[in-house]
Amino acid sequence: MDITATDEWGALAAHHATIEGATLRQLFSDDPGRGHRLTGTAGDLHVDWSKHRVTDETVRLLAALAERAGLPERIEAMFRGEHINTTEDRAVLHVALRAPAGQELVVDGQDVAADVHEVLAKMRGFADRVRSGEWTGHTGERIRAVVNIGIGGSDLGPAMAYTALADYSDRGLTARFVSNIDPTDFAEKTRDLDPATTLFVVCSKTFTTLETLTNATAARDWLLASGADESAVAKHFVAVSTNADAVAEFGIDTENMFGFWDWVGGRYSFTSAVGLALMVAIGPAGYDEMLAGFHAVDEHFRRTPLAENLPVLQGLLNVWYTSFFGAQTHAVLPYSQYLSRLPAYLQQLTMESNGKSVTWDGEPVSTTTGEVYWGEPGTNGQHAFHQLLHQGTSLIPSDFIGFGEPNHDIGDMHDLLMANMFAQSAALAFGKTAEEVAADGTAADVVPHKVMPGNRPSTTILAPKLTPSTLGQLVAFYEHTVFTEGVIWQIDSFDQWGVELGKVMARQLAPALTSEDAPEIDQDDSTVALVEHYRRLRNR
Ligand code: F6P
Repeated sequence: MDITATDEWGALAAHHATIEGATLRQLFSDDPGRGHRLTGTAGDLHVDWSKHRVTDETVRLLAALAERAGLPERIEAMFRGEHINTTEDRAVLHVALRAPAGQELVVDGQDVAADVHEVLAKMRGFADRVRSGEWTGHTGERIRAVVNIGIGGSDLGPAMAYTALADYSDRGLTARFVSNIDPTDFAEKTRDLDPATTLFVVCSKTFTTLETLTNATAARDWLLASGADESAVAKHFVAVSTNADAVAEFGIDTENMFGFWDWVGGRYSFTSAVGLALMVAIGPAGYDEMLAGFHAVDEHFRRTPLAENLPVLQGLLNVWYTSFFGAQTHAVLPYSQYLSRLPAYLQQLTMESNGKSVTWDGEPVSTTTGEVYWGEPGTNGQHAFHQLLHQGTSLIPSDFIGFGEPNHDIGDMHDLLMANMFAQSAALAFGKTAEEVAADGTAADVVPHKVMPGNRPSTTILAPKLTPSTLGQLVAFYEHTVFTEGVIWQIDSFDQWGVELGKVMARQLAPALTSEDAPEIDQDDSTVALVEHYRRLRNR
């Protein structure tokens, strides 16, 4: 089925022609209660979607499109463990990672729920031993630093969450996250650490990723250079992976390996054993609270009718702007310094998932897919890029994320933070007309420069407080938003073939950069010239 050829798509296209010219000012004056009405709750998340360029009719038509695309059936298929990742012939079961104990879920003949809870129990035991000082380094000293070595999905989730949940972490223990093959990353993250009190978590689903294995080798060399012998490796390295053979080959005892499964996609793996460093940092109780937060929104997603289902609505609104209004980017604006890494985390989640040009049947897509996600915490962004949000020529749907209670209550700072957040979404939505600008006494020639066009849509998400639970809820909300978009666009949101070619080419190219002799470079002329120039810079 070509989704854009359906009656439901056609009805939305016709409806778009009537909405395109409507302003949010007009929509609010036609429907004065919409600010209270077009809101909903998922777990503890209060979501206000009233500042979107939609009417009740739009939502009805979007829900009809979702029905036509088979969204309810696809959601159930995911939760049942069907192989909805068709190009890799795999189930997609990150939701099983946070389901409470005791719920059997048999997939391909295996009770995956039991497997999940077995690994979680092992993680809790390990985290407790490190936190209590029972697990020591090779000199008998307690561990003071946990360094996660991983990249992409084996880094961004726990790294983002460690920053977000710093207030809940054991401050006597630092966690660091090394991802980049740029040696600077390893050097800077370890420069003030003592090898005798540092534990490395080598985290890689495949355990073949060049960056991770290279950094892990550097870490082992760093430990051994401190005078430790090979037997110390077992005390200072544990692994998180689906690939026990490769873990053993690297020299890590598989007793100290925490497993997961091919039905967990890398960017959906944060609640698998990939969260181990985070669990050590915030403790098993905090981690369990986070899993319960994820689960609350998983349940909302599975059981709430489409038109009230908040991740579904958000996903449909994203489709509305991307496919009908031609929006290309999406801003994520957390009004919380603790969420500074959320945009980076969401970049992988959304863009690796929905950056696709063919449908799951292998046909070229017939509409725009995917959005470029970006953002920074407010209020910093206001003094940097918000100018373009307010007066630029692009339509950029934005998400404002804020909390009722601050983690640190200093004077009225949190109230000022939140006043800024509410003001920004209102200014974006309603703008300021030429008449209003002129009425302020603005000189006529400056009036056009001060006009704020408004009509720029946003979602506001308000939670009571940033906690492990609300963080889990927020991430699950975005995961299911991405799922919804992928179903409407009929793309496989769970593969990532597009990242492979560059990896293969880098491997082919590496010898040309490192060899002492002038190499034959079998590449295009630009690449050849760049490599030659690089070799001169390296005196090769
Ligand atoms: O290159 C992309 C990717 O495969 C991501 O999808 C994944 O999260 C990341 O690399 C890391 O992979 P791994 O966990 O296997 O090291």
